[in-house]
Amino acid sequence: MLQYLEDSAFSEWARGESLWGWPFALTVHAWGTAIGIGGSGICGLRLLGFFRTIPLTSLSRLTPVVWVAVVLQVCSGFTLWMTKPSKYVTDGAFLIKFTLVCIGVLVTWFYFSTLRRESPEWEAKGVISQRGYRFVAATMALWAGVLVAGRLTAYLGQLYAQ
Ligand code: HEM
Repeated sequence: MLQYLEDSAFSEWARGESLWGWPFALTVHAWGTAIGIGGSGICGLRLLGFFRTIPLTSLSRLTPVVWVAVVLQVCSGFTLWMTKPSKYVTDGAFLIKFTLVCIGVLVTWFYFSTLRRESPEWEAKGVISQRGYRFVAATMALWAGVLVAGRLTAYLGQLYAQ
């Protein structure tokens, strides 16, 4: 099946040297990374006490921005993956990054629903719950892991070995 995917017209297009294959997908992936991790990071920093002029109850407005970024990441990431699926499925760094992405998306889901539910109370009391702090720590650690593993995928393992 992986060979079939690799021989497909879409894979050839993504591998090709046209501007619309790998370079475009990688550019979208970089934007998605900035918007998604940036959006989630702004919420995290606010909950940690920075930017106190931003009301806690308004942080949930970033939720759709982060989910749009996740969709961009899945589409652009799939396009990059399609260039050499049989190599990616056995690449340790890619598998670690992909696992962290799946856990990160799940944790982000619970993080934002907690934020939506509990932020009025946090705002009124002026204190964030322990649960809120745990979500900030977990999302920051997971997205940092995704960034490092994503960047190192090109250097660890045999993906680009001559
Ligand atoms: C929020 C989710 C994600 C983040 C933050 C992320 C982040 C990154 C980063 C920082 C890189 C390195 C880019 C570079 O070398 O300039 C990368 C590369 C890559 N990502 Fe993602 N990614 C995400 C989701 C995905 C998903 C869901 C897939 C697969 C379906 C994927 C597939 C890839 C592939 C194939 C590469 C190229 C690896 C290489 O050959 O060097 N990514 N990603």
